[in-house]
Amino acid sequence: MTLRLIQGGRAEQDKPGLLVVGAREIVTMAGGLRMGEAQADPAALTNADAEVAAGSGTAIAAWEGRIVAVGPRPELEVALEGSGYPLARFATLDAAGGTVTPGLIDAHTHLLFGGSREAELVLRQRGAGYLEILEAGGGILSTVAATRAASAEDLAEHGRRWLSQMLARGTTTVEAKSGYGLDLATELRLLEIAHRLGEEGPIDVLPTWLGAHAVPPEFRDRPEATEAFVRYLVDEQLPGVAAQGRARFADVFCEDGVFSQDQSRRILTAAARFGLGLRLHADELRPSGGAELAVELGALSADHLATPSGEGMAALASAAVEGHPVVATLLPATTWFLMHDDFAPARGLIERGVPVALASDFNPGTSPNCNLALVMTVACLELKLDPSEALAGVTVNAAHALGLGDDRGSIEAGRLADLVVWRVPTHRQIPYWVGADLVATVVKRGRVVVEHATG
Ligand code: NIG
Ligand code: FE
Repeated sequence: MTLRLIQGGRAEQDKPGLLVVGAREIVTMAGGLRMGEAQADPAALTNADAEVAAGSGTAIAAWEGRIVAVGPRPELEVALEGSGYPLARFATLDAAGGTVTPGLIDAHTHLLFGGSREAELVLRQRGAGYLEILEAGGGILSTVAATRAASAEDLAEHGRRWLSQMLARGTTTVEAKSGYGLDLATELRLLEIAHRLGEEGPIDVLPTWLGAHAVPPEFRDRPEATEAFVRYLVDEQLPGVAAQGRARFADVFCEDGVFSQDQSRRILTAAARFGLGLRLHADELRPSGGAELAVELGALSADHLATPSGEGMAALASAAVEGHPVVATLLPATTWFLMHDDFAPARGLIERGVPVALASDFNPGTSPNCNLALVMTVACLELKLDPSEALAGVTVNAAHALGLGDDRGSIEAGRLADLVVWRVPTHRQIPYWVGADLVATVVKRGRVVVEHATG
């Protein structure tokens, strides 16, 4: 199947309107956050063969970067003309029998870092533990050294390289954590670069402050090193980050042996006072009270959750039932890459009504992978998610995990016109064709930003 821009396209990208026609399936994900059984409802619209061939089935209309209507093309065109959206001002994108989904949202990445850590893969094959490597000064700390040594321009170039990989795979919004600086100057540099890359576009980049990612070398030989670093984070680094104004969220690696539940609480409570949204690395390696803390603090998202306690699961379930859900953002590609056996209890979470998102956790240590379709595959194979549940995890639920559920993540009037045209007739094939390049076209804010001609 090849993509055709039947009218307009790049040559007419100055047109304010975009009409997407000829889809076999449009996965709208309309209807809000997915919880429980609804996680499996993609709110998909299907066009018949004849409609696909004639380009007469359900179409999507966008104007000045936002979706204005979804509906049968003939009626849609009449309605557009009659409502002040002249058809002559629309470019038309032919989905050529493919599937259209919302642009993918990666709600957990460590986008910016120096260096790489391929040696750790072999160390882990030989039995070294992740925290053991960190304690020996490797792991996160080796990336901190490489990141501190990198120039701002090198870090920005690295960011552009990986954002472009993400965009080509259908990602249109990315959360990007700091956390490889750990001193104020480098943390500010990372947050500034993340912000700047978002301004450059086309991917929107939402910076998160992760000063509490590890205790840096300059604190490690102090008495009560972790406590001293936590005090520094709260009293000095956080006010500096808040004054800079680039971070939208604060995150903590809440894990026994890294930052305890109580230390995480102090850092995140202070961050909330500065107006930052809250998210946590929670219960990644062992039950550490992260899920419970996420609920207690009303975090947007509790991430990883490979090993939550029974109390943590119950807290997440109660929060969802009581109407203030914390999104469980699961990162199965990390568990896979760490060669761990504990995959997050995704089925249990969904059965208990907890909304589940999926993210890449892109980083040099535990997940050098930025491909969300591949994350969906691992989620289907290891978390036993249904393909529709997995797609909800990287669209509508990921948007909610970033507090952006009313703005993006679904194909509904008023939402951003961030779309992916896939070269498959149903979204259920996206995780099925493992590792394949299935993206035909990516649309960001109503403009075609990626076009793959064939494949
Ligand atoms: O989410 N676990 C903490 N942070 C990252 C890994 C960072 C690293 O190893 O460099 C994660 O897996
Ligand atoms: Fe992470």
